[in-house]
Amino acid sequence: MAIQWFPGHMNLTKKAISERIKDTDVVIELLDARLPGSSANPMLAELTGSRPALKVLNKQDLADPARTALWLTHYNSQPVTRAIGLDASETTPARRLIQACRELAPLRGGMVKPMRVLICGIPNVGKSTLINTLTGKRAAKTGDEAGITKLEQRISLADDFYLYDTPGMLWPRIIVAKSGYNLAASGAIGRNAFNEEEVALELLDYLIQHYPKAVEARYALKIPSGMKDEQLLEEIGRKRGALLGKGRINLQAAAEIVIHDFRNASLGRITLETPEEFAAWLKAGQTLDAERQVKKDAIELKRLIKFKRIPRPQA
Ligand code: G4P
Repeated sequence: MAIQWFPGHMNLTKKAISERIKDTDVVIELLDARLPGSSANPMLAELTGSRPALKVLNKQDLADPARTALWLTHYNSQPVTRAIGLDASETTPARRLIQACRELAPLRGGMVKPMRVLICGIPNVGKSTLINTLTGKRAAKTGDEAGITKLEQRISLADDFYLYDTPGMLWPRIIVAKSGYNLAASGAIGRNAFNEEEVALELLDYLIQHYPKAVEARYALKIPSGMKDEQLLEEIGRKRGALLGKGRINLQAAAEIVIHDFRNASLGRITLETPEEFAAWLKAGQTLDAERQVKKDAIELKRLIKFKRIPRPQA
């Protein structure tokens, strides 16, 4: 079952962004460096149009550095787009953010035309942490419960540089099934909206293919060729003493261990998608979505004809 999640305050966020965008010079989108494609928001692109964009690959301390480099190259090759990697260990990120924005909008600056920057990101991507660092405040709101609404705030990063933080979070309809699983694994989705076992299996399936050594080292086991994600989850459960009695494995507990280990990088620095992989998933997801829409439209048309809301088309 694919993951669907859409927090209730989305419309408020959409409205706030579309109002703010009129007076915005650069849009900063915070992405999770472990899943840049899945943590991006297609709805944001629609709302911000052709505004210069700064993609910040946040939590780079948890991500695979070689893959972060791939994503940075990918974004930096797009028109009016820059990308930088960042993590919470950077105590003065303002300088790099300001510099990247100035490069994107060189005509803005000075007291007459101050730079106006909008910062957006999906829940749990580290926006509050970054803003707290920028404002020099102690963490006011950080926590792993996704999606807490707040009011717009303006942060002055220099005399002629304003950063606007949007209230609430934007969340797209998840049309790429794999994105749903990656977002759940990362902690971006509220824990009641997914099944841990399913998410852990998807995660292990990817790790077997791309990071087998990391799994072997973490759980002191060997992954024989052809091993399936279900077998690996059982093996991890056995190794970690997640047992139910009579030799049965507690798969729920094993799944929680795997997800926890991924989230805090106990498995090492891992990135769950490359630009090419994500592009392929997106294409497949869009095709499926279009097919679903055609089916839905056909059902709706039948319904309208049945209840005589519109005339039957002539043969
Ligand atoms: P949000 O406003 O975008 O929803 O995210 P928030 O800043 O609340 O951060 C969500 C979690 O991500 C927090 O962890 C925070 O510490 C962690 N985090 C933020 N930036 C980074 C980073 O660059 N690297 C790493 N490794 N973690 C980061 P938490 O466990 O939910 O809370 P806490 O106990 O750590 O504060």
